[in-house]
Amino acid sequence: MKNIIAIASFAAILLVSCTSKAPVATAAPAVSASTPEQIAQGKTIFENSCGRCHKLPDPTSHNSVQWVGIMNSMAPKAKLTDEQHQWVYDYIVSVKK
Ligand code: HEC
Repeated sequence: MKNIIAIASFAAILLVSCTSKAPVATAAPAVSASTPEQIAQGKTIFENSCGRCHKLPDPTSHNSVQWVGIMNSMAPKAKLTDEQHQWVYDYIVSVKK
């Protein structure tokens, strides 16, 4: 009987730790891990917003560090939200790889 309780509580702990882990992982602030959907959105935003004032830039023309600075000056020009800024940046650097 003791064993069954021990196993049951062990299983309960496993269950709790598994179920409580998943939401924490997805709710963690995304440092630079956009989903493929967000990167696809970034591509659309890039193509629609970044060719208005000049030729659409080539994502491979600058490295990922240079793009941080470029996006910091261009995102306000293109009136991007913080999220769109992130998605466009993640799209641009995804092209490089
Ligand atoms: C409102 C007009 C406008 C929009 C929208 C705009 N840009 Fe620009 N962009 C400029 C101007 C003006 C320059 C040149 C002067 C400068 O560097 O500020 C420039 C320069 C650049 C350069 C060259 C910078 C360098 O150091 O060689 C890149 C790359 C660039 N833009 C990328 C983008 C991207 C990516 C977007 C979309 C998020 C974007 N731009 C949207 C006006 C714009």
